Amino acid sequence: MLELRGLEKTFARGTVNAHTALRQVSLHLQHGEFVTVIGSNGAGKSTLFNAICGTFLCDAGHILLDGKDITFLPEHTRARQIGRVFQDPMKGTAPGMTIEENMALAYTRAHSGPFSMALSKKKFRLFRDALARYEMGLEDRMKTKVGLLSGGQRQVVTLLMCTLVTPRLLLLDEHTAALDPATAEKIMAITNQIVRENNITTMMITHNIRSALTTGSRTIMMDAGQIILDLSGEEREQMTMERLLKMYSEKKKEELDNDRMLLG
Ligand SMILES: Nc1ncnc2c1ncn2[C@@H]1O[C@H](COP(=O)(O)OP(=O)(O)OP(=O)(O)O)[C@@H](O)[C@H]1O
Ligand SMILES: [Mg+2]
Repeated sequence: MLELRGLEKTFARGTVNAHTALRQVSLHLQHGEFVTVIGSNGAGKSTLFNAICGTFLCDAGHILLDGKDITFLPEHTRARQIGRVFQDPMKGTAPGMTIEENMALAYTRAHSGPFSMALSKKKFRLFRDALARYEMGLEDRMKTKVGLLSGGQRQVVTLLMCTLVTPRLLLLDEHTAALDPATAEKIMAITNQIVRENNITTMMITHNIRSALTTGSRTIMMDAGQIILDLSGEEREQMTMERLLKMYSEKKKEELDNDRMLLG
């Protein structure tokens, strides 16, 4: 379960470049809930993920994960419980290390034990079996340096690294956006399978409106650092892409009207 209470973040506060990227963001996610996050460029989606991961501390508000207040925990401590996959396949893995070394590192990190390059037979088999399930031939390339893999293959390795030890929360930041359509579809199918099998509480940022409405069970829309729409259940089932886009422009217009009122 994730609970965000009144998160606020202003970058470069007190300067002419001051920019409020999060405004009173509150959100409650049930255990195992899969939420998609949409919103235009600069809406604050990645900033919200950064706030949850502890890349910076928020100016106000609280973050609770499984009932524990993590608001002031350092990023590396949160990383043991929160898995994150980025748009850029180059992020999230060490290119100079082999697939098995990367997986061993992630596994050890999640268990907070000392890192050992020496892999036990049991662990090797665990990694190999996990890779084999996705039929990309990666199980036969355990000793290949990750830097030599394609973007899609790297995203699978990153996804597995994040979920070998089930995280309390999985954050996907446009993790299929840099892939060709067929590979993106395959990575999405693998994502759904991993999330469902392990009942992982998940947030996924996407610019693909169709995918946002069909993946998971809830969709939130962000704009100018705020959550402006929260769809689930029947309301979400009946939502069409066209209506959602219309709602977005209506919300934007409302905002403009409010600004005009303030200015007037
Ligand atoms: N470290 C930072 N310092 C200053 N400004 C920042 C920082 N991080 C984000 N911002 C600003 O906060 C706003 C929100 O950025 P963010 O990256 O969260 O957008 P986004 O919704 O993820 O957009 P996109 O869809 O383009 O990825 C932007 O105006 C961005 O310039
Ligand atoms: Mg972003």
